[in-house]
Amino acid sequence: MKTRVPGDKSISQRALILSSLARGESRVRGLVPGGDPASTAKALRGLGVEISPHTEWTEEVRISGLGLRGLRPPSRVLDLENSGTGARLLLGVLAGQPMQAVLTGDESLRSRPMGRVTEPLSAMGARFEALRTPGRLPIRVHGGELQALEYRLPMASAQVKSALLLAGLVGGVGVSLLEPGRSRNHTERMFRAAGASVRSSPEGDGWRVELMEPPDRIDPVDIDIPGDFSSAAFLIVLALLGGARTPLHLEGVGLNETRTGLLPVLERMGARVVLENVRGAEQGEPLGDLVVEASNLLATRVDGEEIPTLIDEIPILAVGALRARGSTRISGAGELRVKETDRIRALVENFMSLGVEVEELEDGLVVEGTARPLSGRVRSFGDHRIAMAFGVLASLPGNDIQVDSPRVTEVSFPGFWKLLDEVRVGGRDTRAHDTGGRERRPPVITLDGPAGSGKSTTAREVARRLGFRHLDSGALYRALTFALLSSGVPEERWAELTPEDLDRFPIHLKASGDRFLVMLGDRVLEEELRTPAITSRVSPLSALPAVRVWLLDAQRRAGSEGGLVADGRDMGTVVFPSAEVKIFLTAELMERARRRFLEREGREPSPSELELEAVKIQERDARDSARALAPLRRAEDAQEVDTSHLTFDAQVQVIIDRAKALTDK
Ligand code: S3P
Repeated sequence: MKTRVPGDKSISQRALILSSLARGESRVRGLVPGGDPASTAKALRGLGVEISPHTEWTEEVRISGLGLRGLRPPSRVLDLENSGTGARLLLGVLAGQPMQAVLTGDESLRSRPMGRVTEPLSAMGARFEALRTPGRLPIRVHGGELQALEYRLPMASAQVKSALLLAGLVGGVGVSLLEPGRSRNHTERMFRAAGASVRSSPEGDGWRVELMEPPDRIDPVDIDIPGDFSSAAFLIVLALLGGARTPLHLEGVGLNETRTGLLPVLERMGARVVLENVRGAEQGEPLGDLVVEASNLLATRVDGEEIPTLIDEIPILAVGALRARGSTRISGAGELRVKETDRIRALVENFMSLGVEVEELEDGLVVEGTARPLSGRVRSFGDHRIAMAFGVLASLPGNDIQVDSPRVTEVSFPGFWKLLDEVRVGGRDTRAHDTGGRERRPPVITLDGPAGSGKSTTAREVARRLGFRHLDSGALYRALTFALLSSGVPEERWAELTPEDLDRFPIHLKASGDRFLVMLGDRVLEEELRTPAITSRVSPLSALPAVRVWLLDAQRRAGSEGGLVADGRDMGTVVFPSAEVKIFLTAELMERARRRFLEREGREPSPSELELEAVKIQERDARDSARALAPLRRAEDAQEVDTSHLTFDAQVQVIIDRAKALTDK
């Protein structure tokens, strides 16, 4: 199965920050609309930068930067929520701005060490006031004039390195850093793309990184953010451990050499992972496609230089090691103790609660491989990568594991659980994947429900208010009726038509502004679809299996870019099984009868007319749910909305709110 993962979180955050500091308009495509970049964007908005809401990041995002020292004093506390990268990088930026700002975060972030950035930044001349606990958020930054820094980092950390480089950039002072190991270099790459030259080279056992002549302004950037290798890692291990039904093709994954340390480790464990189509932009980030096949893994040892290049992948590597033959030892990874949670403790506790043999080290762990089925409850500890690592383990055949708080995955990998499920079963709506399969396109909303539940008028209005297109599938069936009537195929032969026979009718939908035009070749069909001749024939025609199968294509193509509201009986179950938002509309029988009548006759029914209409609706319901083809069925993941006591306006709003709640995370 072919798919993609959302954009890289580290690069997304840097793109937001550097764009805000540039002079001019930056263009960024592929920002991951996850919780971390969203909170960084929110903080930047608090500093006066205009950035579109993360729900709109499916498109290219344009950001007009305010210049290196143009940020405005915030009128409120800047809450970075769960984002360590956002908090630390902004501490660096704010150190060089002549103003005060208070930064805070969620409980996890407030417990993470900030002294690693505030100490060297203090040496540059900034002042930091911890408002509750020394070295922890919330912190008030007193920024201003800075002086040059020469500094040896106690740990390999891209966040610390980036915070200091950013301080040098905004403060207009040189920064020379020596890291004990080579951490990810996205900041250096993006600095270069923005016209700030940074030197980076090995020195002794470590890496020297230098910003010697900071420019007095940086250029806007134009970036395509690749898929996040750290997100891909979860699916790679899933496929290696036999959790994917078909070989997995992951397209457009970032392959920056400072991030992909997991690949050589997996390779020596016996993994079959092939890189294809590797491409790299001079100033940008390299990327490529990965093909992963189920493999028998052997234990290994991981330590030293490798650790910074796979630091975020250790939770999923540990899960891989659990299914490898032998005992895997991971050490030199003490940094894991100060991530979103203490990841060493979290892994060890969860493994123990599954009855797996594991040894906790001060700076790592030793995992004993086992092939036996595992069952039990595990905790995410509020950490996205712990939740995803155990999500992979839980989805392997034979295991029965529950992971708590699944929503925490949204900070870096929106749509993780759905994609995991799709990879596991070998893809559902493949067309959605071919066109990206990313969560960042606007959603497809399906509205199914019984006759008289008000689907089509509601769907049309929901689409209008969201600026989406409405898929009127009825019009497609009418178009086919029209084409058949004009083609001279005798009506009594229609039932024998095969999808191949139907291929000669060039019926398709063409997006045009806020709607779809129904096309027969180059001809737009409109009025001609409303004739009595068509109205009387369309219903039996739409009940033909060949017709339904044939029209699937046109409907799915209409949904391939998202931003679609589709109503019907089987939209959420058959046509768009991977739709992001599925609504099942219901209403009490008498209310549906009333609405039907009103719609048809243009007036309220009398009590006896209402009774009669209700009987008809009941019969129709019975037929609809018993039919072999496209029976009326609520998709398992659909949300039910009972509209009996809602005004039209309220019911439209309820659907919009549900859609937002599901996609806004
Ligand atoms: C990150 C750097 C790493 C990594 C984190 C993202 C970054 O942290 O674990 O998920 O974007 O710079 P450290 O710099 O603390 O090692």
